Amino acid sequence: MIVRRSMRGGHRWVGLIVGLLAAYMAATGAMMALRHDPALAGGRAPTRHCATPDALAHAVAVASARHPGVAFDTLWLRADPVEPLSIRFVDAVQVDVDPCSGRLRDVRSRYAGWDGIAEYLHRLIFLGIEPGKAVAGSVATALSLLAVTGLWLWWPRRRGAWGSALRPARLPKGRTRRRARHGLVGTAVLPLALPIALAGMTLAFPAVADLLYRATGSVAATRPVVPARSGPVAYAEAWRGVLSRLGDVPAQAMIRAPKAPTAAIEINLHDPDARNPEGRQYFFADPGDGRILLHRRYADTPAGARLYYWGYAVHQGKVGGIAGLVATLLTMAGIVYLAISGLRSWLARHPVPSPRFVRMRIVEVVDECDGVKAFRLVPVDPGPIAAATPGAHVAVRLSDTLLRHYSLTNAPGERDDYRIAVRADPSGRGGSLAMHGLVAGAELLVAPPANHFPVVRGTRHAVLVAAGIGITPILAMARHFRAKGIAFELHYFGRTRESMPFRSVIAAELGDAATLHIALSRTEQAARMAAIVAAPARGRHLYSCGQVAFMDALFDAARAAGWRDGALHREAFGVSAQDAAPPRAFVAKLAHSGRRVPVPADRSLLDALADAGVRIDRSCGMGVCGACLVGVVDGAIEHRDAILSPADRRSGRWMTACVSRAGGTDLTLDL
Ligand code: FES
Repeated sequence: MIVRRSMRGGHRWVGLIVGLLAAYMAATGAMMALRHDPALAGGRAPTRHCATPDALAHAVAVASARHPGVAFDTLWLRADPVEPLSIRFVDAVQVDVDPCSGRLRDVRSRYAGWDGIAEYLHRLIFLGIEPGKAVAGSVATALSLLAVTGLWLWWPRRRGAWGSALRPARLPKGRTRRRARHGLVGTAVLPLALPIALAGMTLAFPAVADLLYRATGSVAATRPVVPARSGPVAYAEAWRGVLSRLGDVPAQAMIRAPKAPTAAIEINLHDPDARNPEGRQYFFADPGDGRILLHRRYADTPAGARLYYWGYAVHQGKVGGIAGLVATLLTMAGIVYLAISGLRSWLARHPVPSPRFVRMRIVEVVDECDGVKAFRLVPVDPGPIAAATPGAHVAVRLSDTLLRHYSLTNAPGERDDYRIAVRADPSGRGGSLAMHGLVAGAELLVAPPANHFPVVRGTRHAVLVAAGIGITPILAMARHFRAKGIAFELHYFGRTRESMPFRSVIAAELGDAATLHIALSRTEQAARMAAIVAAPARGRHLYSCGQVAFMDALFDAARAAGWRDGALHREAFGVSAQDAAPPRAFVAKLAHSGRRVPVPADRSLLDALADAGVRIDRSCGMGVCGACLVGVVDGAIEHRDAILSPADRRSGRWMTACVSRAGGTDLTLDL
């Protein structure tokens, strides 16, 4: 438990501190991967080439004349006649000379243009070369840490938990789904993100590269040392020596100017015998006369150096051709997503503010059918009220301790009132009976509508299925689809004709679009459900409201018929059968802090956690929105929500803190 707590804390805080910086490095890294790389590349020169020793000597003279008194840093030779021969100075000025005509093409900053900007941003040159390296290396280190801890945290430890871990879309919308998706994306990008980050560490920190050498038993290659000297450097002669050794013209090569009086000229270029796209061969030449002092092929480089070059190639997205580049870009995009979703998840940890209640008056009470009354509410203070969308509900405060949620049945044009219907439930906790005791003229506090059961954009044919009092949001939806001219069919299940509210309204308004299914046996009901969901299709969405068991059966039939989870939408009332069982006290153990929070029988887990100062999202308060989902590490759960699928309940990985409880005496939460 301590390990997990440390892992989560470390992951969260490292992610928060460097997440956006990592996203920045990933975005600029993608720019680097897409740039026209002037660095070493394989291949031979085209038939015609101009990067001869004489052309190099001329370019050196032109560059020295254009930017006198400043030392050279690097000379880029590219055999393609359209590419300039570029000479970079230590102050980042770059002189481009046409190798064929000898004409000066440009004098500019080496960080100009797309390629230069990408390098400038990714290597944090604006901080200075060394500080930029240190910061970039630290971000790479943090990213490695995040990758490892992220995988550890995401890994499902129970059979049955893999379903929601691999398919977060099955979870209800909200922070929990975002966290599950964050974990899945992190796991998906890890195979490439981790090597890229580790390679970034070796590039930034010589100590890490040394460690790599030591771990592989490699001895770092030595460079030739020449007698101390000053004066002109024999670049052209050195290049002539390289060409004569190669017997061929390489496509590109980089010549590094000697950085010390005793340093040799370094010429490095791709080794065509290396399978590594960054596999290099090195020439070292005497700066005085250009004599080649040493030629080291890639095959002669020690294992540590080869690993380093492979890391460099992976870091640049150069392994695996186009597929490797695409995978690298996707990984970079994944890292950006992780930074943003991680931050969003952290910001969303704050509880949803309580809605502001409006005083409303009951102006009409209608006995809809046996045990169901319909109410029309208007604001006490005249004025506009918050608009509702189909599927929305309002929270009604009946007393200080009694808050109930009721779906709105309003038709699209009804904007001056809220219309709800309530079935009396003598075995309930008093809300419905209190409502049934109200008459026209009574006043109530009503929160603005919220919608956890919205109509999905892109619905081209809606299959609406209601059971009993679940007709209320479904009726609003049917009215919406009819007004919009969207195809729909309504199936309305009930035990008896007399117990089904809004029958006459449905017959008058919806006509043949509605079918009543009355007094069916279990077998008949299953057969009807199978027939209703027999034809899934693109743009076809299934919306259902009723008892949890009813909707579980309907959705199981739909999935068996091939419906996607994304096309299934539900809202429950009455929740599970366990709702009737008297709640028991239990203890919630918080895995990360080790705290123990007692949950009395008359308090919800959500309230007990809030009392203990533990912040959890809260919205519907009745187990239908998923805002308060928390991860469960250990212990049996008594699910009382209407949002989790049967598979998610079986996984034992999540629970709604607002209504669900422990199945035993304690429960360990992922908090
Ligand atoms: S607050 Fe909506 S499910 Fe708990």
